[in-house]
Amino acid sequence: MRAKNSADIAAEFSLLDLTPEFIADPYPAYRALREHAPVKQMNNGSYFLTRYDDLIAIYKNPKSFSSDKKLEFKPKFGDSLLYEHHTTSLVFSDPPLHTRVRKLISGALTPRAIAGMESGLIKLVDELLDRLQTRCNDHGSVDLIEDFASAIPIEVIGNLLDVPHNERAPLRAWSLAILGALEPAVSAAAFETGNLAVAEFISYLEGLIARRREAPGNPEIDVLTRLIIGEADGEKLTPKELLHNCIFLLNAGHETTTNLIGNGLVTLHDHPEQRALLVHQPDLIKTAIEEILRFESSNQLGNRVTTEQVEVGGIMLPPQTQLTLCIGAANRDPAQFENPETFDIQRTPNRHLAFASGTHVCAGMSLARLEGQIAIGRFVARFPDYALTAAPLRSQRIRFRGFYHIAAKV
Ligand code: HEM
Repeated sequence: MRAKNSADIAAEFSLLDLTPEFIADPYPAYRALREHAPVKQMNNGSYFLTRYDDLIAIYKNPKSFSSDKKLEFKPKFGDSLLYEHHTTSLVFSDPPLHTRVRKLISGALTPRAIAGMESGLIKLVDELLDRLQTRCNDHGSVDLIEDFASAIPIEVIGNLLDVPHNERAPLRAWSLAILGALEPAVSAAAFETGNLAVAEFISYLEGLIARRREAPGNPEIDVLTRLIIGEADGEKLTPKELLHNCIFLLNAGHETTTNLIGNGLVTLHDHPEQRALLVHQPDLIKTAIEEILRFESSNQLGNRVTTEQVEVGGIMLPPQTQLTLCIGAANRDPAQFENPETFDIQRTPNRHLAFASGTHVCAGMSLARLEGQIAIGRFVARFPDYALTAAPLRSQRIRFRGFYHIAAKV
């Protein structure tokens, strides 16, 4: 009977018709798909993939599986600014644009540059923890997203591009609106808000870039200066490439990292024995962050399109087949992870796909790991008995998994 239910779940699965139960806990559906339809054809002809090995094979073969979204986004975004933005950012591009932009960005995110950010990050997190304590004493509870998790990546990415502190306030809302348009189903209102956010972001960045051209920063640590003056393969970025990749960078590091921290604090709260283990053995923080990334990946879905006839998981696909790669499902694939549904902060090895793999592997992963380790490590050391005071409010997105609000006492 149970097997039949699971087969039914797999048969009925649609990305455009998601229930509140699925949004709260997609993992039973992902398990059913992995078992019964790991290469699942959707109504629109695209395929939804849930097996670890299939995702790895796709990530490792960018020639047959393109990241370029110019064709795919046309019906959804038309000639809008959202279309221009998403089709110009490096995550949704192939060589040569991808190679040029990636070289410029990753040169500024070297292990040395990231190690140089550590002391500033510790200071920022400790100040936020002090403020949490005061706020909780004054108000009786705090919001772990608004008052803690979201404040960290805003500062980190703001510092990376050297955005003046008093100009950072709108960045988060712009970022949420632009990434929201990547959900499988986009309402007219979300489309409009997303377009407006790109327009406002561009107009802000044009001013910032003009100021930076007049007074360049140190390209070793200032990514904006690096993107303005830097050359890769003898070419600079065009003005449009520059604008859209600044927006992309600001977006890429925001919601994902906020959700890593929020998901981590909720998951540790829901697994008290694992939280106690971390409190007593703080040096487990590195493996704990990897496990949070695996167990509740903040970026759950990725996309590729076939460029030629190619086989995936035993099924031959024609060129121009759209694929959704389900990182959340691959990260719980029993063929790769022992007891995949168990949250185990000591898990090794843990070759999760939270940052994808291959040529598009997350360029900010070392920074995201450092942010997660410092934020969650110092939070649980300071507030070992933190408690949620209400059910956390989950965002309704399925590509980016996380919470809007987490009310807690510290
Ligand atoms: C927990 C936090 C993060 C997660 C889970 C995450 C996840 C990902 C994933 C899955 C991809 C690959 C998408 C694909 O090709 O399908 C990606 C790409 C990327 N990420 Fe992250 N990311 C995180 C934080 C960051 C941060 C902090 C930065 C920047 C400072 C960043 C910058 C980038 C960039 C530039 C790319 C594009 C790489 C390329 O296309 O070559 N990410 N990220």
